[in-house]
Amino acid sequence: MKKILVTRRLLQSNEDRLKDLYDVKLNSNDELYSQQKLIEMSEGCDGILSALTDNLDEQTINKLPDSIKILSNFAVGFGNIDLNAAKKRNIIVTNTPEVLTDATAEIGILLILGACRRASEGIEDAKASNWKWSADYLIGKQLTGTRLGILGMGRIGKKIAKIARSLGMIIHYHNRSKLSSDKEEGAIYHKELKSLLSVSDVLSVCCPASKETINLINKETLEYLPKGAVVTNVARGDIVEDEALIDALNRRKVYAVGLDVYKGEPNLNPGYLKHKSAFILPHLGSATKETRTAMANLAIDNLEEFLKTGNCKNKVN
Ligand code: GLV
Repeated sequence: MKKILVTRRLLQSNEDRLKDLYDVKLNSNDELYSQQKLIEMSEGCDGILSALTDNLDEQTINKLPDSIKILSNFAVGFGNIDLNAAKKRNIIVTNTPEVLTDATAEIGILLILGACRRASEGIEDAKASNWKWSADYLIGKQLTGTRLGILGMGRIGKKIAKIARSLGMIIHYHNRSKLSSDKEEGAIYHKELKSLLSVSDVLSVCCPASKETINLINKETLEYLPKGAVVTNVARGDIVEDEALIDALNRRKVYAVGLDVYKGEPNLNPGYLKHKSAFILPHLGSATKETRTAMANLAIDNLEEFLKTGNCKNKVN
């Protein structure tokens, strides 16, 4: 029987399936393993079912035992894993695309709504019973008729576009390549980031974190936005330069932000906490029972496919 290390606690039905298939090392206390502990725990294992909270950098990967042949990441993103280091050691890395598109797009829309309609301030006032209705109380930005700029028109970007369109938003996007017109469904393509940002009353960051996208939203690019734009990020914190975004909020260049992801999670730049106009969530993108179950099942399918055939369709390195 193959031996698998599972670095984080999963939902019960997924752990039951793993127990049927493998000699499995589960993490019932859901302890966050240090890199050293992860290396020790993987001794004698054939593969690791990892999570986005595991920092599998080059140093860690180089110290994994030779028996490890696969890192099946329980996430669509794989910025936590050094793909080249894994490749050099002949370890395949897989992810869990598609199954989390809907849940993540829902949170993407929540970020847009929460930031535009001043939900943080409203919640705070309501909980403190500190409000009175008046014609100009907590006036926000209406989505209908507003331009939404989508940075990264992959699966999640497309789903956000679809929902936002039904809310009356006008969709613009920037992507490595233009979509075919049937897939665009009326969305307007911008070859250059600057051109997209200049029409983004609301920006939705949906692209993966990569060498090309790290700090793409920075001091210089934020200036391309219309004054009073709203910036939301459902993808990865690494894409945004926090100091620049907080400064733009301070200067009212940016009206509000909606964030689900942060550099250095679970910590976030304290500058965001001071802002009433920051609608912030703790990385909830894929957090529904259906989606987390499907993600873990796909991560297990990836292990199964690889251990049986030596290959896997969700290989990313
Ligand atoms: C969630 O953020 C994921 O990458 O799956």
